[in-house]
Amino acid sequence: MQTAAKLMKVFVTRRIPQEGMKILSAAAECEVSLWDSDEPVSRAELLKGVQGAHGLLCLLSDKIDAEVLDAAGPNLKVISTLSVGFDHMAIDEIKKRGIRVGYTPDVLTDATAELTVALLLATARRLPEGVEEVKNGGWSSWKPLWLCGYGLSGSTVGIIGLGRIGMAIAQRLMPFGVKRLLYSGRTAKAHAAEVNGEFVPLDTLVSESDFIVVSCSLTPETQGLCDKAFFSKMKNTAVFINSSRGAVVNQEDLYEALSGGQIAAAGLDVTTPEPLPTNHPLLKLKNCVVLPHIGSATYSTRGVMSALAARNLLGGLRGTEMPSELNF
Ligand code: NDP
Ligand code: DGY
Repeated sequence: MQTAAKLMKVFVTRRIPQEGMKILSAAAECEVSLWDSDEPVSRAELLKGVQGAHGLLCLLSDKIDAEVLDAAGPNLKVISTLSVGFDHMAIDEIKKRGIRVGYTPDVLTDATAELTVALLLATARRLPEGVEEVKNGGWSSWKPLWLCGYGLSGSTVGIIGLGRIGMAIAQRLMPFGVKRLLYSGRTAKAHAAEVNGEFVPLDTLVSESDFIVVSCSLTPETQGLCDKAFFSKMKNTAVFINSSRGAVVNQEDLYEALSGGQIAAAGLDVTTPEPLPTNHPLLKLKNCVVLPHIGSATYSTRGVMSALAARNLLGGLRGTEMPSELNF
């Protein structure tokens, strides 16, 4: 008599686009349990759901720390996150336990770069303010200086973190007539030549840029990087954009810089916390545009991310190649 192969338990922490669910459902060796909601799984349900799991498919809103790994127990072989950022995971703990990690680089680069450019233009040219004025009757006539902002033509743009997304942002901004493209990071990048990028110390980037775009990963070194000292070095006419992670910015210092006229405007796709409370001081400022972390939010991108996250998970469960494995 044939004995049935033992099923591997997989916990998925949210409803994900069908592209990924289809792949998991078709994998005969998996027994998938899903937190069947569009809202995040609670900590208690996460700790319960992960018990005995061989594979975990999680989101950036799930904190994967030692407690979760302990709750999962020794079966856990692979964690696959539906994101390129992995700052929500305790990588050292994961590594210590020999667990493999999958993530979703590249497939969301274009969508995130596009959104970052849209946010930059919306912030610099004051689009949300203009739309609001049309609706509330504030549009009385054409006025020479009303709702004026800042343009990219002839400007200096500084990109903090010229990685996959930073580079895609630079490529999209250069055709607007940007004069100088500065970037900072830990190392100079060969690919910067394509956009005439100049590798400069952070201080130079901050003081010489008309637009600063943050697109680095969140690490202990970048946490709180954009603080009072940082904003005080920026030009009064400069625009600050962040589409990386909220914790790269000290939001109290940003508020002071925006409300005191130290800098012209800020556009944020990411904040601390997420969601940002509706009574947060930053939301009261006309020169601050806040989006709800939608960098990668196109239907097709989220579908591809979902499929990639599922394939990463299966590769880890089967002990074969993962399409995008994090090398730590
Ligand atoms: P990459 O790994 O390609 O790029 C990360 C960049 O961060 C690298 O260029 C790296 O530079 C830089 N970096 C690391 N440490 C520092 C530092 N101390 N100072 C300055 N730069 C630093 O990742 P991606 O471009 O694919 O993604 C970047 C981040 O964007 C993700 O980690 C995620 O947090 C965020 N993201 C946000 C999205 C959204 O919806 N808003 C969507 C997708 C991603 P170096 O190589 O020199 O160390
Ligand atoms: C990521 O992938 O890290 C983003 O923040 C969401 O796509």
